[in-house]
Amino acid sequence: MKVDIKNVLPFVSWESIAGLQSKIDANYQNLVQKTGKGNDFLGWVDLPCDISSGLLQSIRKDAEQIAQMAEVYVVIGIGGSYLGARAVIEALQHNFAFLKPQKMPLVIYAGQNLCENYLTDLLEVLDQKEYAMTVISKSGTTTEPAIAFRILKQHIEKKYGKAEAQKRIIAVTDQSKGALKTLADTEGYKSYVIPDDVGGRYSVLTPVGLLPIAAAGFDIEKLVEGAKNMRNILMRSSDIKENPACLYAATRYALYQEGKTNEIMVNYLPCLHYITEWWKQLYGESEGKENKGIFPAGVSFTTDLHSMGQYIQDGLRNIFETVLSIEKNKHTINIPVDSANSDGLNFLSSKTMGYVNHQAEAGTTLAHVDGKVPNIRISLPELNEFTLGELLYFYEFACGLSAYFLDINPFDQPGVEHYKKNMFALLEKPGYEKEHQDLIERMK
Ligand code: PA5
Repeated sequence: MKVDIKNVLPFVSWESIAGLQSKIDANYQNLVQKTGKGNDFLGWVDLPCDISSGLLQSIRKDAEQIAQMAEVYVVIGIGGSYLGARAVIEALQHNFAFLKPQKMPLVIYAGQNLCENYLTDLLEVLDQKEYAMTVISKSGTTTEPAIAFRILKQHIEKKYGKAEAQKRIIAVTDQSKGALKTLADTEGYKSYVIPDDVGGRYSVLTPVGLLPIAAAGFDIEKLVEGAKNMRNILMRSSDIKENPACLYAATRYALYQEGKTNEIMVNYLPCLHYITEWWKQLYGESEGKENKGIFPAGVSFTTDLHSMGQYIQDGLRNIFETVLSIEKNKHTINIPVDSANSDGLNFLSSKTMGYVNHQAEAGTTLAHVDGKVPNIRISLPELNEFTLGELLYFYEFACGLSAYFLDINPFDQPGVEHYKKNMFALLEKPGYEKEHQDLIERMK
C-alpha cells in the first residue's frame, strides 16, 4: 500500500507537512501508549495480534454451518455494527452476487434503516428462502436493529419453529450488558462478544465484521494477517517519511489548516462503494466534534463525474480528494475492434477497459489539481482479503492520529444521542414526557 501526496504539494508545502512531525509524534505516542483521549477504547490498536486462532476457528465453523442451512444470511446492525462487514464483502464478492447461484449464502442487511417497505420486501423474500441471521449491537439497545430483530425473530420462529430458529440465530454484543445480551442468554442463542475496549466503528476485526465476512465465504485469516502486517509497518516509526498513516494524517491536517474542510474519498470501482461508506462513518463520527473536523464525503468515479464532477472541478474551493486506487484488476476486458467504427472508438481497440479507467483517473486527478483540488492517492496493488485488512487498519490508525490533532476524543459519539432523545420523546417512550411536550410545542 502506498500514499502519494505529490498532488498536494502545489497547495501545501512539504515543509509545512513535515513541520507537523512533532505533533504527529505526540499523537502517535498517545495511540500506541494508550495515553490519549478516549484511551479506554484503544483495544483495536492491538486487535490484529490479539485475535486468537480459537476465535477465528469458531467463526469459520459457524460460517460453514450457516452455509449448510441457509441460502441467505441476514446481518442486522447499524453504523459500525454492519458497515465494516459490508465494505469487505462488497469489495470482494461478485458484482452481481444477488443474481448468481453460489456456494456460500448471500449476505443481506437489515436494521440499518427504519423503512417498512424495505423490511416488508425482505420478509417477502425470506418467505421463499432458507435463511439464518446474526444480530449485532454493542450497546444492545439501538432502536433500528432492535426493531428489525423483533420482527425477523417472529418471522424465523414462525417459519422454522422456535427450536430450529434458535440454531439459526447468532448474537454479537457486549459481554455482560444491554438488552440484546439478556435476550441472547434467555433464548439460548450462540453469541460472540465485542470487546469492551473496541468501539463500533473500530470493530470490523472482531466478530462484528469477521462473522459476516466468513459467512460470505471470504478468508478472515488473510484479512487479519493483512491488518497485522500493516500494524507491524505502522509500529516501526512515526516518521512521516516511513509511516503511511502518519503521512496521511499530517497531510489531511495541513490541508484542513489551509481551509480544505471537506475530504472526498474517490474510487474508480463500484465494488468500493461500501469501503467509502465505512470510511465516512469512521472519520465523520471520530472527528466531527466540538465544532471541528473535516467533513468526509464520497464519490464513485467515473459514474459521479457525470453528477458531482462539475462541483469538484469548479465549485467552492474548500475540498480535497483522496483517491483509493487499485493497481491491478481481477478481470481484464479488451475493447474489441469494430469494422464499422461508427462510434469512433477503434483507437482504443488494443486497450483494456482497466487501462481506460486508469487514464480516466490520471486525467481527472490533473484536471482537479488544475481546479485547485489537492489530491492524495492511496494505492493498493490489488483487492483481496490481505490488502483490505491492511487498508482497514491503516484507515483506523490514521483516523486516531487525525482526531488527536484536533484535541478531541475520537472514540465517543455524543452528538448521535441528540436525535435519539428527540425520537424517543416524540415516540412517547416512558421517561421522556417533558421532552415530548417541549417538542410538540416547538413543532406547532
Ligand atoms: O461507532 C459507533 O459506536 C456507532 O456507529 C455504532 O456502531 C452504532 O451506533 C451502532 O451501535 P450498536 O452496535 O450499539 O447498536
